[in-house]
Amino acid sequence: MEFMIDTANLEEIKNYNNLIPLSGVTSNPTIVKKEGKIDFYQHMRQIRKIIGDQISLHIQVVATDYEGIIKDAKAIIENIDKEVYIKIPVNEAGIQAIKTLKNEGYHVTATAVYTKFQAYLAIAAKADYIAPYYNRMENLNIDPNDLVKEVSKEIARTNSNSKILGASFKNVNQVNSALENGAHAATMSVDIIKTALTMPSIQKAVNDFNKDWESIFGNGLVIADL
Ligand code: G3P
Repeated sequence: MEFMIDTANLEEIKNYNNLIPLSGVTSNPTIVKKEGKIDFYQHMRQIRKIIGDQISLHIQVVATDYEGIIKDAKAIIENIDKEVYIKIPVNEAGIQAIKTLKNEGYHVTATAVYTKFQAYLAIAAKADYIAPYYNRMENLNIDPNDLVKEVSKEIARTNSNSKILGASFKNVNQVNSALENGAHAATMSVDIIKTALTMPSIQKAVNDFNKDWESIFGNGLVIADL
């Protein structure tokens, strides 16, 4: 199970790289926009510096035609590093580019996946990760759990190395469903993780334990002080 964060914010990346067992950092042009008019390559190199080379970095292309996507991918690789996972939407130009880049040995994340068919093509093109858009699918009345279940069966049946990277989550329940139905990884905004780990019931349990401890050993004394 891999947990990734869907952000280009350096502070969030520093913070959550320390907090959780982080597997990757993903973004798209909408997420990049939140950082303002950054020096794009320099910013992405800073992210790499923060996460190191054991955590995957996924960067999305912007060009929409085949030649343009390949040029974007090569520019990302030259200006950041060759371990970057090039995120490419699965449409006509995208699947063609995924095929080329995988044949040339690069890492690819197939994104903007709404249908099983897109995912099956991406498996056949040997994409490393396949990113179904959970919440967006639900909004379109497409069942994301069914997609994840069937695509994970197909990955197993064909002995493929592709992994399902659930994306576009709006709440922790959707993340759980993706993982329970066969997603190998999930990328989410840090707000989802924060909400899940700061729920009042957890804090109440901690406060109650501390109250009991203090009633015996005194205020402010922890185990290490004994
Ligand atoms: O990584 C892209 C995906 O997470 C899109 O999310 O929130 O725009 O549906 P969203």
